[in-house]
Amino acid sequence: MLQAPPKIDPNGKVSPAATADSDQTLDPSNSRDWSEFRLQAHRMLDDMIGYIENIRERPVWQPIPNEVRAHFQSPAPRQGDELAKVHAEFMREVLPYAQGNVHPGFMGWVNGGGTPVGMVAEMLAAGLNANVGGRNHIPVEVERQVTRWVQELFGFPQGASGLFVTGTSMANLVAVLVARDVALGFEVRSGGVAANPRRLTAYTSTSVHSCVPKAMDIAGLGSDALRLIPTDLGCRIDLAAIAEAIQRDREAGFTPFLVVGTAGTVNAGAIDDLAGLADLCQREKLWFHVDGAFGALAKLAPDLAPKLVGMERADSVAFDFHKWGQAPYDAGFILVRDSEAHKQAFISPAAYLQRAERGLAAGSPWPCDFGPDLSRGFRALKVWFTLKVHGVDALGAVISRCCALARYLEARIAETPELELMAPVELNIVCFRYRTEGPVPESFNLEKSNQANDEIVIRLQESGIVAPSTTKIRGRLAIRAAIVNHRTSKAEIDALVENTLAQGRAL
Ligand SMILES: Cc1ncc(COP(=O)(O)O)c(C=O)c1O
Repeated sequence: MLQAPPKIDPNGKVSPAATADSDQTLDPSNSRDWSEFRLQAHRMLDDMIGYIENIRERPVWQPIPNEVRAHFQSPAPRQGDELAKVHAEFMREVLPYAQGNVHPGFMGWVNGGGTPVGMVAEMLAAGLNANVGGRNHIPVEVERQVTRWVQELFGFPQGASGLFVTGTSMANLVAVLVARDVALGFEVRSGGVAANPRRLTAYTSTSVHSCVPKAMDIAGLGSDALRLIPTDLGCRIDLAAIAEAIQRDREAGFTPFLVVGTAGTVNAGAIDDLAGLADLCQREKLWFHVDGAFGALAKLAPDLAPKLVGMERADSVAFDFHKWGQAPYDAGFILVRDSEAHKQAFISPAAYLQRAERGLAAGSPWPCDFGPDLSRGFRALKVWFTLKVHGVDALGAVISRCCALARYLEARIAETPELELMAPVELNIVCFRYRTEGPVPESFNLEKSNQANDEIVIRLQESGIVAPSTTKIRGRLAIRAAIVNHRTSKAEIDALVENTLAQGRAL
């Protein structure tokens, strides 16, 4: 029998060599060990269910003590430890110092709250350990079914293609790449952008999320080729200004190819005139992409869906199920009207990925033909479970309620002279500030106001009661509450107002 050579560890210690007939797998080794594992696994599941059930009793977030941070400096363990001990370490050193987006008081950035159903679906996906890059297995069909649901909900044709990706940053990149290849011809994939004499330009508003210029950069087109068009007072793109910019660029020898509209801007939740953009793209023969990271799912709420009219005419839509869809991270999605163009932008033949009519290699095209990833987890399962268990209407109701809470916060700000609303409330994002100048507006000092509001937000986060974030609106720092979590209620909105006032007065 072939013997593996002995292993020598970094200290020069020779460890017994593994043999090819060794039965040392990483599974529990006998039925007693399996029973112990089962009990321990149930304890771990119970702890996480308890965590979510009792989340309101915890701080939203808390500063991480130095000793806890130092704990994560230890070297890679050469020898393993008991699962129960590592779990205890997780409960002590990891769980209390999470970001806090499960908590109803979390209003920072645009992060979803997750659900118990999504959590257990993730466990099932991990148990199957499916690689959804391709091949002939039902996890691929689950992803295809979710794609058909998205087509139906967004009013897209049945032939449209869809793909789970990490998040909207990646989904926007996929869209830019497909639009680029359609504009330059698919031979650009082998020849490269530099070999093509045409200089592509794209158009979006100044409120665009930073991942779109990044996508232009990664696509080899350069972020400067993305023209940032001014917005109106409602933070929506100025349609006349885009048309002028396109005209100017054509006259200067550029090739306009793409317009990115936003359904729910990251700063203020504004929605571009999507129908107006669809008309413009049709007229100018440009690819129309919608970045709907969180806003696209407002389509599920009957009272909000009319705001998204025009999205159904887009060539592609990027959005996240992990934001308003409440699925656990990560679950980004890209929907593309022309599935053939989508495939031609990514398909990469390789002998070891040969397709077949039957057997495990059947079922082409595979998900890996529609995006950059070959290894892909079973993200679709948590979304499939979320939609099947809760239903589209319940998700729509959560989205409506988040917007109603944003309007409630807007009203509370309006009735509180010490607070000022800084942007119109279109969806679920409220930007406001504490007035440091008191009742005399002439004494307004930009630097003082910005510093004070920044400090208020840090103190709110450190209080563990509520956690908003900040942004800048026309150069002024704003306290930004993004209401995304299905657990958030009026109680947290009131706590935000009362504690902002208390912190502001205490400065
Ligand atoms: C409008 C918009 N686009 C893109 C993104 C990026 O999405 P992700 O963080 O999922 O990559 C966000 C994130 O909040 C966003 O609000």
